[in-house]
Amino acid sequence: MMMHRDKLLKMVSVRKQAARVRVGQVKHLSGETNQINQTRDPTTNANQNDTSHSTKPVSSFYHHSAVDIAASKPSMRLTPATMLYAGKSPDRSHLLRSAQYLHKELPVRIAHRIAGFRGLPFIVGCNPTILQVHEMYIRAFQLLIEHPRITDFHMERNYTELLKKLLDDHRDVVTMLADGFRECRKHIQNEQLVRQFLDRTLTSRLGLRMLAEHHLALHDDKASSTGSHHGGRRSNSNYVGIICVNLQLKKVIENWADFATKVCEHRYGRAPAINLNGHSGATFPYIEQPLHYILPEILKNAMRATVEKNADASTLPPVTVTIASNDVDFIIRVSDRGGGIPHQFVERIFDYHFTTAGVQEENDDNYDVFGAMVEMSNPSPGSGPMHGFGFGLPTSRAYAEYLGGSLKVEAMQGIGTDVYLRLRHIEGKHESFRI
Ligand SMILES: Nc1ncnc2c1ncn2[C@@H]1O[C@H](COP(=O)(O)OP(=O)(O)OP(=O)(O)O)[C@@H](O)[C@H]1O
Ligand SMILES: [Mg+2]
Repeated sequence: MMMHRDKLLKMVSVRKQAARVRVGQVKHLSGETNQINQTRDPTTNANQNDTSHSTKPVSSFYHHSAVDIAASKPSMRLTPATMLYAGKSPDRSHLLRSAQYLHKELPVRIAHRIAGFRGLPFIVGCNPTILQVHEMYIRAFQLLIEHPRITDFHMERNYTELLKKLLDDHRDVVTMLADGFRECRKHIQNEQLVRQFLDRTLTSRLGLRMLAEHHLALHDDKASSTGSHHGGRRSNSNYVGIICVNLQLKKVIENWADFATKVCEHRYGRAPAINLNGHSGATFPYIEQPLHYILPEILKNAMRATVEKNADASTLPPVTVTIASNDVDFIIRVSDRGGGIPHQFVERIFDYHFTTAGVQEENDDNYDVFGAMVEMSNPSPGSGPMHGFGFGLPTSRAYAEYLGGSLKVEAMQGIGTDVYLRLRHIEGKHESFRI
């Protein structure tokens, strides 16, 4: 069966060429996406070639035993506390340790994902866009295992460059997976299987990116560890890698509230006010990245519902954000008066691709504004031109659960919706999550 599959994989690569053109031509929510899909082709992209010191074709890795060996190893997930206390050492040896850990760990995690692609139903795995992402993972695996062991700072610098490149090359993976699965939706009988695949792939990607970005941040931060604490673009002393030692939750929410307001005004000509209350002075160590994805998604949803439900009203009821922080976790509740979620949809809002973004909107010139603006302004993992893809809620919930938390939606049909985002503290009373 695998032989058969390999032959077909080769055949499909011809179809892929045609499909890439097609993907680039699809009328997307954002013009950005079209460009991205055309310029981010891993096999034609000149940038990609920079990272490809290897001459082996990707297809030689379809059956490479190194993938199977790595996939059989368990992943070693770190607690943020471990990352925090591995911290900065004046002789920069923490950089070597960090790179050595990644050098071992990343191929294992990527091999698990490759195993996930191999386990997809045949017809889904052969979708050109999904196959393209599969190959990007194989390529990343290949580059990472071929990198020599990291024994000195020169090696560490090379490795850091490779990580930067891979982060960039894989930037659009979520959009591509959303495209790919939408393209082959009609062939999918087992919804559960797709959900499991996307949950795992997206959360693993979040973890991989957080680890890689943590290393890059430590690397870029070396100036501060050698005593020069002045003149940094961000306050280095407030960060250890990607961990913000004193995160002011209110500020992060306010930034995303401003962003969502601008997007909403651009799309609808007006936006509800956002009120913030509760423990608005809460400050604690946390990692901002997942918040940068989840907060705009929840706020966008609340604002969209508010504006659409109150289309004829002269004033809009505000969206209220309440913060609670305790010694175990912190909770962000976003309440809107956008009419709630119709009973028949409640069960489906966490399905990937479920959206009520109207078809008529596709003909609306402004339709892609949310997506385009998110793409431009939100460089976090998973963000992209996703308005109307039906990825906001399922992805946010998968991220929250990956981080030991939850995302719950309570709709009061006829009135509005409350969304509860619950996330565990890094240094709380209970065991922390692992990345
Ligand atoms: N606060 C809310 N009030 C009413 N309906 C909501 C709310 N939040 C989500 N929904 C419903 O759930 C659906 C799925 O939300 P989700 O965020 O996953 O996708 P989307 O907003 O349609 O697209 P995107 O991928 O851009 O987020 C929405 O289309 C909408 O119908
Ligand atoms: Mg949404």
